[in-house]
This record gives sequence, structure tokens and C-alpha cells, in this order.
Amino acid sequence: MPAPNTSRAPEELTIDDLRTRFGGQGQGHVLAHWDRLDAAGRERLLAQLRRLEPQLDDLVTAYREAREAAAPRKATDLAPRIEPARAIALPQNGGDAKRAAAARQRGEEMLAAGRVGVFLVAGGQGTRLGFPHPKGCFPIGPVSDRSLFELQAQKIRGISRRTGRAFPWYIMTSDATDAETREAFEANDCFGVPEADVTIFQQEMVPAFDFEGRMILETVDRVFENPNGHGGSLTALVSSGALADMDRRGVDTVFYYQVDNPLVRIADPTYLGYHAESSAEMSCKVVRKVDPMEKVGVVARVDGRDAIVEYTELRDEERYARDADDKLVFWAGSIAIHLLDTAFIRRVASDAFRALPFHPSAKQIPYVDEGGEERKPQEPNGYKLERFVFDALTEARSVCVVETTAEEEFSPVKNATGTDSADTSRAALQAQYRRWLSAGGARVPDDDVSVEIDHSVIDGPDDVRSAGFKTLADAGEAVRIAGGRDR
Ligand code: UTP
Repeated sequence: MPAPNTSRAPEELTIDDLRTRFGGQGQGHVLAHWDRLDAAGRERLLAQLRRLEPQLDDLVTAYREAREAAAPRKATDLAPRIEPARAIALPQNGGDAKRAAAARQRGEEMLAAGRVGVFLVAGGQGTRLGFPHPKGCFPIGPVSDRSLFELQAQKIRGISRRTGRAFPWYIMTSDATDAETREAFEANDCFGVPEADVTIFQQEMVPAFDFEGRMILETVDRVFENPNGHGGSLTALVSSGALADMDRRGVDTVFYYQVDNPLVRIADPTYLGYHAESSAEMSCKVVRKVDPMEKVGVVARVDGRDAIVEYTELRDEERYARDADDKLVFWAGSIAIHLLDTAFIRRVASDAFRALPFHPSAKQIPYVDEGGEERKPQEPNGYKLERFVFDALTEARSVCVVETTAEEEFSPVKNATGTDSADTSRAALQAQYRRWLSAGGARVPDDDVSVEIDHSVIDGPDDVRSAGFKTLADAGEAVRIAGGRDR
């Protein structure tokens, strides 16, 4: 039986209160080294436990539920309940070009009315990439080494220029990325976005548990905590005051994206228009899976509601199923670009322990042994817990799914080499710039030349056309090249 919650405010809890509370939840070991701590160590641990205390019961329950649900939904159970996504197709795939044009117009109006906020999640630890700084600082520019943050800032400045109004940019960091992200923004004058329009805030952390359900002590005076996943962004928007800031500014629609995809079309007006037209509370962008084995979650309908189904959750019958045109039936790969209404975010965040369940993943987590020695295990010794933003989909009364192409909108920097690496992402950017130049009537440089476009000036073929340059020599600073002899 958990000990009854004390009526004291967390900051007034004494060490005895905490001993009772944590002990009552099978977590008394967090104070195992208390007697040997110096004053600073005691202060640190006390502060952490006071912070964790209000959520203690929920955290322990969340751990138990995460473990029980840890096995992926069984493909055979899911099979009778799953149908393909109903997505708005691209005009070239049978979509309605007139509807797309109307959606674009509507989205432009939303932007001009200041109803849209841009929300970047940048709290991840970027383990696979192995870059020793926040991923947003990663140099992605093919010519200038411009960082992912700077590239995104250029896109945001481009929208401000087009709509003639300030455009708020909310950036979620974590303990792992906060200090360096703030330094990068300060050192670069927020990459040209007015400081008043940039809000940086931290997501919450969550304790990790060993396989017996005990919180892991990382050092004698600290419980190990990790960022609580991109799904933690929805509660952090509320607790940080960012959502209240949106209310003050008249923002009712949030464009959510991830830090590592330089092709993201920030606040795409057509997407915004479709979201509004469908009265959706949350929307998803998807790309056509070509290879049935691609490891992306697909948007599908489960029991009549849109949801993301992990590729491991599909049976081969669904995974390989093809329609009369030989296209995959479960084709809609999610690219983690969402629109969410602010009222919807508030609703989901208010019931987060139910609506955004924690997912466990077994990891090697540094710990302190009974003798107080710090250890780094060679094998997984516990679970990190994370929330996923797409779990919110099943909470939405209406969802809008919009098709795009990976070529134009998705090439993330996830790995150090191979698929989804900096090389593949830079190549995708280069190819996109060449397509834009060609479609806009400008000369395309030779293959041995690197091209870089300043998105604050040119953000698509239409901008190339209206700028009116035919050769890159006439393009000024908006297009930079390096290497080769071409100009
Ligand atoms: P990923 O799941 O790709 O994780 O995050 P990651 O941290 O970038 O990389 P790995 O898995 O450790 O190699 C997708 C997006 O979600 C953000 C990331 O910053 C990225 O933009 N994210 C992830 C958070 O903001 N917080 C988290 O706790 C986890």
C-alpha cells in the first residue's frame, strides 16, 4: 500500500516525509546513502526528491503499465481492426489540384492573421549521430556549414517577410541540450529571428527504473533521469507557459517538427489549410512507403481511429498487401510533422498520464552500487521511459492526414553514416535546390558544384521565378556555390 500523500507542499517536505513517501512506493533505496552525504549532496538529493514527489504515484504506476504494455500489439490481434489511412493525396497521385490551391489560400490567411506558432522539439540526446553538441548545431549547409538551427531560422524569417508579421518560434530543449542551445542562439543573435519571438524552454525529465521497478540511483545523491520523450512536449508547452504565450498572441494552431530534418516545410500553408478545412485537432504528414520493410510507422485506422502503427505491429499479410495499382495498401509512412490545435494540446496535457503513456526501452544506465561505487553497465540494466507525441492522435476528435514526398520534405540526420545520415540529408538538400532552380527558370550548376540557398529569400521555385535571375552570378547572396568552375 502506498503511504498516504502528505498534505505539505513539496518544498516543505522533510527527509522523514520523503522517506515515508518513497518507501511506501517501494523506492526507499533512493535514500540508501543519505547518512554519508555532505551538506551539498543532501541539498541536491532533497531538491530532486521534492520535485519528483508530487508525481511519485503516477510514475510508479506508469512504469508498471509501461512494462505490461511493453510487448508490441500483436499483429494477429490488430489484423481484423486495421484499415488503411484516408489521406489527402498529392495532385500527382489523384488528389484534387483545386482543393490544394484553396487549402493553400486558407493557410496563407491563417499565417497572415498570426494564428500559427512554430514548435521545434530539440531535446533529444542524438545518440545515434554521436555529434557532441545539440543536433540543431549540426553543420548541414553544403557551402557555408550553416547549422540546422540557422537553416530553420531562415525559413521562419522567410515566412515573416512574406506575411509581413512576426512569427513566434518555440523551442523545446532538455537538460541534455538546453545550455548549448541557448548559447548558440545568443552567440548568433537568434539567427536573425527577433529575440522577442523566440521562446526556449525545457521539457521534463523522468526517472529510469531497473528491471525490478526501482528507480536507478546514478550517484549517491542523484536519481538517474532522462528527457521524457517528444511526447513530453505537450505537457511542457503548458507547464512552461509557452501555450499561454500563444494565447496572448492569438495563436491557435501549432506547427510541430523535429530538429533533424532540413527539408521540413515550416508552416506549409497548404497543410495548414487542409487541417482547418477538416476541422482537425491534430494532423499528420505522410510519405508513400515504397519498400514494405522500411522501418517507419504507418498512419492507419485502428478501430476506426487514426493511429500510428509500428512496422513491427503489421503482419506480413498487411505489410506486403498491394492494391489494384500495385501500390502498398499500408503506405502512409509518418514523417513526424504535425499540426495541433492549442485547445487540443491543453486537453491532452491535462490527462497526460492516460493519454500519453510511457514506453519503456531497455538501456545501459549508469548506476551506483550498494557500496556507493559508480558503475557503467555493459548490458542493459533498466528501462528509460519516453512519451511519443503521436500517441495523442487517438485522442483527437478529427485527424487530417496529408500526403507529401520524401524528396521534397523528409531527409533526417539520424545516423553517423549510411541511411538517414548527414551525407544523405545534404545530398537531398542539393537535389532540392537544383530542382527549385530548374523549375524557376534559372541555370542549374554542374554536378561537381555545391549549391546553398538562403531560405529567408528563396523557399521554392516560385521565389526563384519571381527573383528573375537566370544565372547564379545574378542571384546575389541568395544562392551560394562552392567547388567546380561553374558560375
Ligand atoms: P529521435 O527519436 O530521433 O531521438 O528524436 P534523438 O534524440 O534525436 O536521437 P537518438 O534516438 O538518441 O539517436 C526525434 C525528435 O524528437 C526530439 C529530438 O530532439 C528530435 O527532434 N526529442 C526526442 C525531444 O525533443 N525530446 C526527447 O526526449 C526525445
